[in-house]
This record gives sequence, C-alpha cells and structure tokens, in this order.
Amino acid sequence: MKNYLSPSILAADFWDLGEQVRAAERGGATYLHVDVMDGHFVPNLTMGVPLVKQLKKATSLPLDVHLMIANPLVQVPWFLKAGADIVTAHAETLYGEELHAFIAMAHDSGAKAGLSIKPKTPVEVLEPVIDELDLVLVMSVEPGFSGQSYIAGSEDKVAAVAAMARRHGSNPLIEVDGGINGETAGSVIEAGANVLVAGSAIYHTQLTVAAVTTADA
Ligand code: DX5
Ligand code: ZN
Repeated sequence: MKNYLSPSILAADFWDLGEQVRAAERGGATYLHVDVMDGHFVPNLTMGVPLVKQLKKATSLPLDVHLMIANPLVQVPWFLKAGADIVTAHAETLYGEELHAFIAMAHDSGAKAGLSIKPKTPVEVLEPVIDELDLVLVMSVEPGFSGQSYIAGSEDKVAAVAAMARRHGSNPLIEVDGGINGETAGSVIEAGANVLVAGSAIYHTQLTVAAVTTADA
C-alpha cells in the first residue's frame, strides 16, 4: 500500500507561506494539511476560510482541511466553497444523524469526507458511518498545537480502525496526525495508516518528505 504525506502548514513560516507550499510540492507531498482551530473545540486559533481560498489558487495540491471546530455543520459549506478537497470534522462534534449530514455535504460538493477522533475517543464512534467515510483521521496528540510528542500506543487505534474498516468491507484512507516523524512513522504505517500528517518534522527539522514516507514497515 502506498503511503502519502500531508505536510501541515501550521508549522510553516507564514511570512513566506508561498515558498513553504512550493517546498511541499517539490518534496513530493500528496496533500496539503490545513489545521483550522476555532478557540472553542480546541484552545488555539489558527486559520480559516480566506486562507483556504487563497491556497486553492496558489497550489495544485489537494487541500486536506482538518476542522477542529465546534460547529462543523455551520462552517463546512464555507470551506467546501473555498476549495477544500478533503474536509475532516471531529467525531466528538457530531451526533447521530449529523454524522450522515456532514458526510453528505462533502460528497454533494465532490469532496472527500473524513472524521477524526481525539486520543481518548473510542474508535467505535466511527462504526455507524465507516462505510460512508473516505478518510479516518486518528489523532496521535491532543489536538490544538503542533510540535507535541506522539502519544505511544496511538498505533493500536490505527490498527483498530483498519480492522473495523476490513470488517465492513470498506477502505477509507487512514490518516495519522501529531508527532509524526522519521522515528514514529514506521509503527503507524505498520498498523495500517497510509496518510501521514507532519508539521514540525517537515518545516522545523528540514526532514524530507522521502525520509518520512519511506519509513515503511
Ligand atoms: C494538531 C494538528 C496537527 C499539527 C501537527 O492539533 O492537528 O496537524 O499541525 O503538527 P506536528 O507534526 O508538529 O505534531
Ligand atoms: Zn491536523
């Protein structure tokens, strides 16, 4: 199975964002990971719709928009209109029918639908919609900040998601986000992850895309 890298621009130099995005393109990134935080679902505030709109014009990389926001059903249409190619909301913010409504919103505009779970959220919350999802994002740090350390054992959740998908005969992308670098990538890939998000490892240590993605199991 091929592994894909989604560099997180949260760790990039915003003053030189255009060049940092081009560096991701040159380095062989598959997606560009955009961390949207609203100061409610997570304590931090980061970027929003206007930036996604600008990025859409500036790069041909598909935009992998990670929504750490309290009210995704209100704001998802805005991000879709701005050009998000993948919209990932948090499972903790959607209940019952809302999960299906969110996925339908993404699909109706031709985007991929993803759901993310925080480290303490059981994978079972994904079960009712696992057949409909294009992507599952397993957080391997508490969402809110880049530069945190990988929570050991997160690979077990990746394996549990992969097993659930197999049981249902579905095949979503399995993405991992938080503390991913040349040392931690191997275990999540082995557990079944195929999209790796990396912020600090790419933008702060000059680690190359290849060094992360070839940490193959
Ligand atoms: C954290 C974000 C991550 C973050 C990853 O809440 O969702 O995408 O940017 O950064 P690193 O790779 O530095 O842990
Ligand atoms: Zn993220």
